[in-house]
Amino acid sequence: MTPEVLIPEAVIGRRVDELARKISADYAAADELVLVGVLRGAFIFLADLTRRLTVPCRVDFVALSRYEEGAEGGPVRLIMDLRVAVTGKHVLIVEDIVDSGHTLGYLHEMLRARRPASIRTCVLTRKPDRLEVELTLDYVGFDIPDRWVVGYGLDYGDRFRTLPYIGVIDTSTQA
Ligand code: IMP
Ligand code: MG
Repeated sequence: MTPEVLIPEAVIGRRVDELARKISADYAAADELVLVGVLRGAFIFLADLTRRLTVPCRVDFVALSRYEEGAEGGPVRLIMDLRVAVTGKHVLIVEDIVDSGHTLGYLHEMLRARRPASIRTCVLTRKPDRLEVELTLDYVGFDIPDRWVVGYGLDYGDRFRTLPYIGVIDTSTQA
């Protein structure tokens, strides 16, 4: 089954351009920015975003997962930590999607404890109706409805990540 298009490729491209311009302007005075990508979903967004930034960047990754505990998901688990030390650095977390917000909340707390010079968040998509935790999102690409989205890095059971657009699928009919 082919996912139904929610956000076409060209629209994503224009929005990533806008986000990159805003971030580049906001960090124009910074000597360096550490981009922290959340694996695996953020890899395509991060690759497109970082190539459009004009501020000098380092790129690093963390991998996080929710323990499976029923449909709602359990606590967040750190699977892979950063290689770079972020103490005293300007940190920008780059994430594909914020649903309940637990994953990003956990990562934000974890990195804040390392005393970066600053820490902000950039998310490609957000499901505003689903947010369960208090979170400041500094840069948001798109607000989306409460549907399961795939493509542009986002998956369903590890499928659909490499679609160039963001689509929606009906999870009740997926094998
Ligand atoms: P949260 O902790 O509930 O905010 O969940 C965030 C994580 O759940 C994301 O990093 C994704 O891995 C996954 N996720 C939530 N909603 C979707 C979706 O619609 N499509 C693909 N992944 C999703
Ligand atoms: Mg993710």
